[in-house]
Amino acid sequence: MSTFLVTGASGSMGSEATKSLAAQGNHVIMACRNLDKGEKTRQSILQQFPNAQLTLLKLDLSQLESVQCAALEVAKILQNDNVLLDGIFNNAGIINRDFRLTQDGYENTLQVNFIGPALLTLTLMPYTKSNAHIVNMVSLTCRFGKIDERLFEKTKKDFSQLGTYADTKLALLLFSIALYRHQESLGKPDIYINVADPGVVNSNMISMGRWFDGLADILFRPLCSSPVKGVAPALRALSTSDNCVYFVGKNQHSIGKRFLNDTHIEWIWSEIQKIL
Ligand SMILES: NC(=O)c1ccc[n+]([C@@H]2O[C@H](COP(=O)([O-])OP(=O)(O)OC[C@H]3O[C@@H](n4cnc5c(N)ncnc54)[C@H](OP(=O)(O)O)[C@@H]3O)[C@@H](O)[C@H]2O)c1
Repeated sequence: MSTFLVTGASGSMGSEATKSLAAQGNHVIMACRNLDKGEKTRQSILQQFPNAQLTLLKLDLSQLESVQCAALEVAKILQNDNVLLDGIFNNAGIINRDFRLTQDGYENTLQVNFIGPALLTLTLMPYTKSNAHIVNMVSLTCRFGKIDERLFEKTKKDFSQLGTYADTKLALLLFSIALYRHQESLGKPDIYINVADPGVVNSNMISMGRWFDGLADILFRPLCSSPVKGVAPALRALSTSDNCVYFVGKNQHSIGKRFLNDTHIEWIWSEIQKIL
């Protein structure tokens, strides 16, 4: 039996990923911000797959302390079972309507979408198998993101719902490339690090919290992919023998040249090491 960690396991695509991995006989550690919601998801999967091995874990990616506690908890679970992680799926993400800072002093979207997943992954590195799979959920908006030296110090004036989201997903993409490049220095030269793009998916996330949501629900939602379809590239990435590849739809390809900015990649890596 393999062991996978899925963040945002109570969400639209996270719950589908959890179900699919559990149905294949894997143990899934379901990292959830809201444990009641996570438990509801767990119960609904158990109704369909009574033998599913599902463990709930509290994780709030907007708090450095919670990420640290969750990593310790994962380590305990693995030690109890005498196993290491076969895969980490950094699926959780948000698209905030308004600017707000976390208790750690970062813009909330940045901490949930990038800082939290990066720290969780790095902290769990010693507990992963030598050939483990790490998959980070990015977005087609990455191509509109911008990285500059003020990424961690943005103010209300810099904030826009889609722009900030794009910046944070680009940061996660660049972190993925950096992790791939530095994996040897972490003593894990053989792990697989890939990114997955679900396309536009009919989930809670696509509500913008604005007056036109009702209209968009009628006109736009029917054109979106289902969560099952949206999470399919990530599931393929969790068992691939490719490395540092962009999974989208039924395909996978090298990460676009526009993202291979060495200065940005190394800067993201050094900044995350400082926070770690
Ligand atoms: N939907 C799309 O069209 C689309 C497109 C491109 C990329 N994506 C990416 O796909 C991923 C999954 O999104 P989805 O569409 O399935 O959305 P979703 O249904 O809203 O799921 C998001 C998940 O993230 C969790 N989460 C939010 N804040 C968190 C925090 N502070 N700590 C831990 N977990 C937190 C949510 O937990 P709660 O339930 O407790 O809020 C939920 O389980 C995200 O990374 C998103 O950016 C989505």
